Amino acid sequence: MTGSSLVRFDEFMGDALYGVSGFYTSGDGRAGRRGDFITSPEVGPLFGTVIARALDAWWREMDRPNDFRVFELGAGPGTLARSILAAEPECLGGDVSKYVAVELSARQRESHPDGITSLPTLPEGELCGVVMANELLDNVPFRLLVNDGGWREAWVDRDADTASEVLRPVVDDVPVALPASAALGARVPVQMRAGQLVKEVVDRLRGRMVVIDYSVPTTAVLAMRPWREWLRTYAGHERGGHYLRNVGQQDITTDVCIDQVEAIVGPADAVRSQAQFLQRWGIDDLVAEGKRVWEAEAARPGLLAMKMRSRVSEAAALLDPNGLGAFTVLEWSHPPR
Ligand SMILES: C[S@@+](CC[C@H](N)C(=O)[O-])C[C@H]1O[C@@H](n2cnc3c(N)ncnc32)[C@H](O)[C@@H]1O
Repeated sequence: MTGSSLVRFDEFMGDALYGVSGFYTSGDGRAGRRGDFITSPEVGPLFGTVIARALDAWWREMDRPNDFRVFELGAGPGTLARSILAAEPECLGGDVSKYVAVELSARQRESHPDGITSLPTLPEGELCGVVMANELLDNVPFRLLVNDGGWREAWVDRDADTASEVLRPVVDDVPVALPASAALGARVPVQMRAGQLVKEVVDRLRGRMVVIDYSVPTTAVLAMRPWREWLRTYAGHERGGHYLRNVGQQDITTDVCIDQVEAIVGPADAVRSQAQFLQRWGIDDLVAEGKRVWEAEAARPGLLAMKMRSRVSEAAALLDPNGLGAFTVLEWSHPPR
């Protein structure tokens, strides 16, 4: 932890996750969420196989430009990259360096597959192709407002042995209508940095941005919920402790408020659940193919047959209406078509 003792919550969170001893950067051998809980790419290769189909369709829609690239923002240890490459999408033309994995954490970049382009930040200039971000926005440092008889901003005093919260006036405009009727003690995240991150991509995009995350349509939804439901911490596959404790040892995350992101970027061109998105791009066909291959080889199953059989359970997890299937997939095309 560095810097002055009283910091706004977003700065505290930025240090806790991405500072020198941060959760995603620290040298204790963990590869971020990989060791802590399961994201869609970590469920197995099926997620990437479906995404590879979508990428090819979008590439064809753009008339197969030569400078088409796949950018993955917040790529973690590169698991999605590995399964997309294994599916050999036509849009990469066999050139894996056209897959650009962007990941802040040097430690996680070490695990990226050989041959891909692995970077700490997006390259400068126009971005031609598809930019994807799975479970990134929920991890972008957010500000925290608390209804204390009026909305006030959470700051963190980290001078003491244990960090404590201090409420101060909100001194600027926030991109969201704060619900006046929220209960005393209600909290909301202010996700300007997440919105700005998407806007910076969309502004220089020739193609499509696809954002996948747990989300709610409006900030008011979170104001009405007990804050512990959406301001979550995770460590070692379990919910963690209070967000001011175990700094750097646990993930800190929130549901993404779609109204805030759209207030900054503009309305998304498509908003679907993850289940709808995966079905649109053929997950059911891939599962049916998996079953056929498994049944044909069940007597003497090889590695391929085993992989095909696992598509059934992977699909159940990815489409689960109470889990990953309920995530939201937001898409922006630019220039707008
Ligand atoms: C929850 S993990 C998701 C990893 C992966 N996308 C997945 O679905 O398994 C979020 C990742 O985003 C990275 N990250 C956060 N902010 C970033 C940024 N501005 N640019 C690039 N990577 C970032 C973190 O270091 C972390 O590895």
